Amino acid sequence: MSAASEIRVVTDSRELAEEAAELFVWLGSQTLAIGGSFRVALAGGSTPKGLYAALAGSRFSKELNWGNVEFYFGDERCVPPVHPESNFGMANTILFRPLAIDSKQIFRMEGEDPNPEDAARRYDATVRTQFKSPPPTWPRFDLILLGLGEDGHTASLFPGSRALDERTRVAVAAEAPRGVAHRLTLTAAAVSHARTVIFLVSGREKAGAVRAVLERPTSPDRQPDPMDRTFPARLIRPVDGRVIWFLDRAAASELALARQGINSHEE
Ligand code: 6PG
Repeated sequence: MSAASEIRVVTDSRELAEEAAELFVWLGSQTLAIGGSFRVALAGGSTPKGLYAALAGSRFSKELNWGNVEFYFGDERCVPPVHPESNFGMANTILFRPLAIDSKQIFRMEGEDPNPEDAARRYDATVRTQFKSPPPTWPRFDLILLGLGEDGHTASLFPGSRALDERTRVAVAAEAPRGVAHRLTLTAAAVSHARTVIFLVSGREKAGAVRAVLERPTSPDRQPDPMDRTFPARLIRPVDGRVIWFLDRAAASELALARQGINSHEE
């Protein structure tokens, strides 16, 4: 992981949601203050639910001009948007509906398409059009939210997947070894071009992957490292941005600092 990673250890998942929401609205306000839109790609899975609920709650919902926020997705399961496994469906219920986000502000991956490759190509084109960034330029998301799997996957970039090798596309179809098999995902290259990437990781079961991603040395000259294919979150290396890890103490418990008894940045 590059030197640009910042680690924030918090007590538990509730504080993780609150701290991440604080940074989300701060980044959004800073971005909107210089004009334009705040373009964010949302994470799927269960960890970000607390963050989305916090953003839609009384403390944060009035902290940002939501009408100028564009919502994208880091990945999607290939299911219809109303399916219980849909990342869009989860965000729609917890975030978009409570904040009355206009559908024109939401750019979802079309998981319902029976041909994931077609849906991935359409998403690639949609993002490049919205960002006015044709190849070889890269769209630069203002913020990308990511989770981390116990196996070191992030978005739908799973260990050993062909999707890990993609160097030119923004979005590709991918396969997952568990859960919904067919996926759509932003590529590691697209994520690495974001201005800010926030990883949200909670729970003791993630501690091994956190250590493997954050503490195993990466090759200094960004050369491919076999460890990166084993723990794909290591492929997220900011080209000209920053990566911030929000960890609760359980997820941080195998990091060297924690093993030395330093359990939080506040201490
Ligand atoms: C997904 C996510 C995936 C998720 C991790 C962690 O679609 O499931 O994009 O990468 O972030 O699997 O999931 P949890 O937050 O549920 O532990």
